[in-house]
Amino acid sequence: MIAVQEKKKEIIEAFQFRHATKAFDPTKKISEEDFQFILETGRLSPSSVGYEPWKFLVVQNQELREKIRAVSFGAQGQLPTASHFVILLARKNARYDSAYVQQLLRDVKEIPEETLAQMNEAYRSFQENDLNLFESERALFDWASKQTYIALGNMMTSAAQIGIDSCPIEGFNLENVTKILENEGLLEDGAFGVSVMAAFGYRAQEPNRAKIRQSAESVTKWIY
Ligand SMILES: Cc1cc2nc3c(=O)[nH]c(=O)nc-3n(C[C@H](O)[C@H](O)[C@H](O)COP(=O)(O)O)c2cc1C
Repeated sequence: MIAVQEKKKEIIEAFQFRHATKAFDPTKKISEEDFQFILETGRLSPSSVGYEPWKFLVVQNQELREKIRAVSFGAQGQLPTASHFVILLARKNARYDSAYVQQLLRDVKEIPEETLAQMNEAYRSFQENDLNLFESERALFDWASKQTYIALGNMMTSAAQIGIDSCPIEGFNLENVTKILENEGLLEDGAFGVSVMAAFGYRAQEPNRAKIRQSAESVTKWIY
């Protein structure tokens, strides 16, 4: 019981510790082992129907960071100072019948041939009828992109639990960042689009105010 209480306390402390870090101490680098741990919590994250429609680009090249910075108003302080900078890509065609999904189901998840047809039909109906994902390319991409935010949250929380700071970043021009990554050949011929970014490192200074949130009552409603 004491162990559980202690764990809960530690987790809440990590949530209090995590804040959107605007600038990192450029002299402090996250160890290889710690960064692998953070990435691992992204990789192990859940995704809808297990499609894992993501790729984590770890951008350590300063020139590329500078190019991205020029079109990312929300990452001005983070891009030049972060120990590690991640761009979370989402698949643009995470359709039940895509080559990617079929390969994932067969080779990674090792779904037996006799169950595949049934599974494909169930996921077709889910994607097409239940979530209406085939309405537009954007709807399908946004669905994949939503999954990447789960990985994003987990990576930031796990980082906070080992004393590492982070900042999630949506403050960029999507079209321009896409062009930059396309030119670098990083979007795998259009298989991926840019979802969201995250900077990791050690804070340059303490945040200037304590965490502010709405009350639990105003963001929660219980229905009995
Ligand atoms: C998806 C997402 C995108 C964000 N984009 C940016 C950003 O581009 N630049 C930035 O400085 N902060 C960004 N933030 C940080 C938020 O402003 C911040 O999380 C929020 O104000 C709450 O503050 P806290 O994280 O310090 O508790 C983003 C947060 C999220 C979740």
